[in-house]
Amino acid sequence: MTVGIDKIGFFTSPYYIDMVDLATARNVDPNKYLIGIGQKLQAVIPETQDAVTLAANAADRILTSADKADIDMVIFGTETGVDNSKAAAIYVQDLLGISKRARAFEIKQACYGATAGIQMAYDHVLLHPESKVLVLASDIARYGLNTPGEVTQGGGAVAMLITANPRILALDGQSAFYSENIMDFWRPLYRKEAVVDGHYSTDVYIEFFKRTWKQYQDKTGRSLADFSALAFHLPFTKMGLKAIDAVVQGTASATKLLRQFDFSTQYNAVVGNLYTGSLYLSLLSLLSNSDSLKPGDRVGLFSYGSGAQGEFYSGTVAKNFDRQALKKPVDNLLDDRHKLSIPKYEKMYQAAMPITSGDITYDVTADQSRYVLRGRAADRLV
Ligand code: CAA
Repeated sequence: MTVGIDKIGFFTSPYYIDMVDLATARNVDPNKYLIGIGQKLQAVIPETQDAVTLAANAADRILTSADKADIDMVIFGTETGVDNSKAAAIYVQDLLGISKRARAFEIKQACYGATAGIQMAYDHVLLHPESKVLVLASDIARYGLNTPGEVTQGGGAVAMLITANPRILALDGQSAFYSENIMDFWRPLYRKEAVVDGHYSTDVYIEFFKRTWKQYQDKTGRSLADFSALAFHLPFTKMGLKAIDAVVQGTASATKLLRQFDFSTQYNAVVGNLYTGSLYLSLLSLLSNSDSLKPGDRVGLFSYGSGAQGEFYSGTVAKNFDRQALKKPVDNLLDDRHKLSIPKYEKMYQAAMPITSGDITYDVTADQSRYVLRGRAADRLV
């Protein structure tokens, strides 16, 4: 029996901005954003969406009624949740009609939370092969208008169903992890935007990748030659490129792994940062867009959560893997988005529930969202 990712669903906002427009508005050379940071477009999340609705929309795209009846655990990884006490998982369980005979809870460790969820789900299904576990990764990345981090914002959710005999990625059960108390990125309770030292955070991320990759090799005896692709947590695509460069440059695997890395960045470059979901959007991008990845190929995954936790683990592409079935809904969602001007984005960014700007109206019937927020998160019960 194998255990791993049987289904992956993705959802993001119907709105985006172009990084060339943002660069022009901020008086920056567009190539800094396009090449230096590696981002082309950025999702702008309206006030009608929060971490819960994004996750509900992502999960709704993959779950059948049989899945909803069989799921016995819902794990929600987020660092931009809606409540300091109650788990976002309970809202999604209720919205989607998932069985009440389930454990439902939230995990927080910056961008790492969903990876902890996947590892827990893996162990659970290994013990209880009839179980299905829903792992959600959902966030809205905000750094503030006119800040250095503005180009690395974004948001969205990835929903994954972990089962026995998965049809997408069978996990190897091999993993290496490392944690240390580091102040590279955090968001105290009184702040809506994160505090970040972006250059320091990039250095720590590369250091944690090198460390966990070495631990993984020592544990398993595997080397780069055993991998068809490596996927990374991608707050912005250049960050992953720096990490992969640090281990592949000058090796026999460099050309193959860098080519696959390009496929793994395509969706992230047009959505932006998803925090917990970034690694899994990158995996989805790799599996949907690579023209050479095939069943049996081994993929390495590097997860990083500031503060900081790193983990490198691996899986192999499942034998019945259907690339087009994964790719079509994502391309369709991304093609269906509306571009915002920079002034409109700035208004939307500053809006709050209930909508504070008379210039903003949302036609929620005109996009692919099935779940939207009609009032403040705190008003959910009324
Ligand atoms: N053409 C091409 N490239 C150009 C250029 C031009 N005209 N001008 C500049 N560049 C290049 C620079 O050379 C640099 O490249 P290298 O990194 O390869 O040296 C790159 O563009 C960026 O330039 P700067 O370093 O000068 O940019 P900056 O000072 O504005 O900072 C940043 C960039 C650090 C990424 C900043 O945007 C930031 O702080 N972003 C937020 C940080 C972030 O997202 N960190 C990750 C969060 S951690 C996380 O996601 C995990 C979690 O748990 C939350």
